Amino acid sequence: MLILGIESSCDETGIALYDSAAGLLSHALHSQVAMHAEYGGVVPELASRDHVRRVVPLLRSTLEKAQKSLADIDAVAYTRGPGLSGALLVGSAFAEALALALDKPTIPVHHLEGHLLSPLLSADPPTFPFVALLVSGGHTQLMQVTGVGEYTLLGETLDDAAGEAFDKSAKLLGLPYPGGALLSKLAEQGRPGVYELPRPMLHSGDLNFSFSGLKTAVLTLVREQGEHLADEFKADAARAFQEAIVEVLAKKALKALKQTGLKQLVVAGGVGANKQLRATLDDEARRKRFRVYYPELEFCTDNGAMIALAGCLRLQSGTPSKPAGEFAVLPRWPLMQIAG
Ligand code: KG4
Ligand code: ZN
Repeated sequence: MLILGIESSCDETGIALYDSAAGLLSHALHSQVAMHAEYGGVVPELASRDHVRRVVPLLRSTLEKAQKSLADIDAVAYTRGPGLSGALLVGSAFAEALALALDKPTIPVHHLEGHLLSPLLSADPPTFPFVALLVSGGHTQLMQVTGVGEYTLLGETLDDAAGEAFDKSAKLLGLPYPGGALLSKLAEQGRPGVYELPRPMLHSGDLNFSFSGLKTAVLTLVREQGEHLADEFKADAARAFQEAIVEVLAKKALKALKQTGLKQLVVAGGVGANKQLRATLDDEARRKRFRVYYPELEFCTDNGAMIALAGCLRLQSGTPSKPAGEFAVLPRWPLMQIAG
């Protein structure tokens, strides 16, 4: 069974072909980061228009790379939500129209389910059940994943998402959008312990997070510096921010493992690319004898492969596909609505 996957929930157009027997055949991605950078954030209308421009050429190159034709596709999976409504509409309308023309069914996919399952694209994938730490630009959740569609929410952020906190703190330090990865690079040059930032909710006793106070603490640090931010300050502040957020994420993830008794941790979403987070969790995994799995770096951030995979796993686990043609995007769509 060959599944075409289409992702267009935010500022990346991703297309992929996933074969139920052979795995991922090919994928292609266009990131709009450079286009949005000059505005300091994603401009939804520009995002939608760019998806329109990219989707056909990306589909062509994905088919070419896999040496497949449209006629080989058995079903079309696409991101139905959550995300920007206009951006979702482009991918959804394209997917539904293509499937209708090919007389094939569609599988609307939840974007976060794509992230949750993305580590299964690796050569050495985890097995169910596992704990997932989902850390993206829009979400921060700890989830118990018992099987495809079997998700239990263990805890989540009460305000900003981890990626959002990275991006907002980066902006405060004068870094261009999206600053998460840049802040993390800068933190490598920073000295540990120069500034001490709060670890919000570290001892809250539950598995929830809160990051808006951490961002405010960075703002206070920045204000204390006056007009000019020295490079050394920026690096030290970036280091302090990263140490604080990584400690909270890692400790809560460990607590989730302890609480569930599970021995496998999956880290998914853009912040899962963070080197310090990975080093900390790898270290804890060695000491506390659990295994930690990350998606390949290219599948940490938004991509079509995770959508094609999620669509395929959904079909295999008994979720029916639907006839192409009618659809409705869900810009706000709690993951728990699809959990069994
Ligand atoms: O999963 P993703 O591509 O998008 C959403 O679905 O939200 O995640 C993007 C987020 C951004 O906030 C970005 O700054 C952050 O992931 N990010 C990082 C790193 N790479 C990307 N944050 C920290 N360290 C990184 N290396
Ligand atoms: Zn995402």
